[in-house]
Amino acid sequence: MEQALKTPQNSPLSAVEIKQLFDAEYQNINSLADVEKLRVEYLGKSGKVTESLKTLGTLPAEQRKQFGAEVNQVKVQITEVLENKKAEFESKELNEKLLKESIDISIPAQKVKFGKTHPVSHVVQEVKDIFASLGFVYAEGPEIENDYNNFTALNISENHPARQMHDTFYIKSVDNNLVLRTHTSPVQIRTMKNGKPPFKFIAPGRTFRCDSDQTHSPMFHQIEGFYVDKNVNMGHLKGCLQEFLDRFFEVSGIKMRFRASFFPFTEPSAEVDIQCNRSGGKIEIGKGADFLEILGCGMIHPKILENCGINSEEYSGFAFGIGIERLAMLKYGISDLRQFFENDVRFLQHYGF
Ligand code: DAH
Repeated sequence: MEQALKTPQNSPLSAVEIKQLFDAEYQNINSLADVEKLRVEYLGKSGKVTESLKTLGTLPAEQRKQFGAEVNQVKVQITEVLENKKAEFESKELNEKLLKESIDISIPAQKVKFGKTHPVSHVVQEVKDIFASLGFVYAEGPEIENDYNNFTALNISENHPARQMHDTFYIKSVDNNLVLRTHTSPVQIRTMKNGKPPFKFIAPGRTFRCDSDQTHSPMFHQIEGFYVDKNVNMGHLKGCLQEFLDRFFEVSGIKMRFRASFFPFTEPSAEVDIQCNRSGGKIEIGKGADFLEILGCGMIHPKILENCGINSEEYSGFAFGIGIERLAMLKYGISDLRQFFENDVRFLQHYGF
């Protein structure tokens, strides 16, 4: 090869000079980080190679072509050398990792800690068992729901303020009519549309709202309860809830307070508070003179029955919705909602079943 061109003082580094400097530094490479450092130093935006090429224009025309070609050649060499080195380090790292993670299948069996049931799953099971003994069957619906079932059929029209209250996650779709269900109430619509009365079921499941702080999680669980037959009245609702609450909290005759409320899908609507004692620093259900809110309920609005093709002159019913995490927190003394979803095994070891 022709002798590389010498460059005068203060002029760009020649290919030979760059290569010499690079080779010297290359000897000291010890890690992936060193490779990257060298890459930046030579090939980066202000690297030696780049700077040299940038100043090509300052050279006399007769030198320019050869100088450029030589620096470019060095650039290709350096790029290749560094890439090979990088691959070498990466494969070394991978091998070390694989070695560390290898499994010795000859090790004798050891004692393992068994997993536990998450409190949410446990409470769902408890609630299911109680309602099953009262003749309620199990129903479920999809977590991705259409706007009609989640809102419209439940008497929550386009501009109804309840839509804002629900802080909905909307899903991009062809008709833009899909949401992550904001409550389990749409299961009422699906079940009634697909069958004939009487209906008596509970539907537990995940629900979603765009809300997150100490007392709100974007994903949480509810149980929908729902009974439609001839001559169902509010007394049935009261009796059913009394039975459920007594058995769930294992106290007989918990005092309930039906506070008039509003839900678009029930008329009349009520929120139910239960008796508790807050004086000892923790909450005791079924004792004392305080009350705390536990669920929403009401007599199913005739419009909802009609929306599902059920004659509201002939049939009536009640419905209720309960937050599952709230039940679990109250029964098992869990204080922070976020703990439910952090997947910390220590939480499961302590509160699991
Ligand atoms: N769907 C309501 C909510 O998420 C809860 C609810 C209230 C459900 C009253 C019902 C009901 O079935 O009757 O806030």
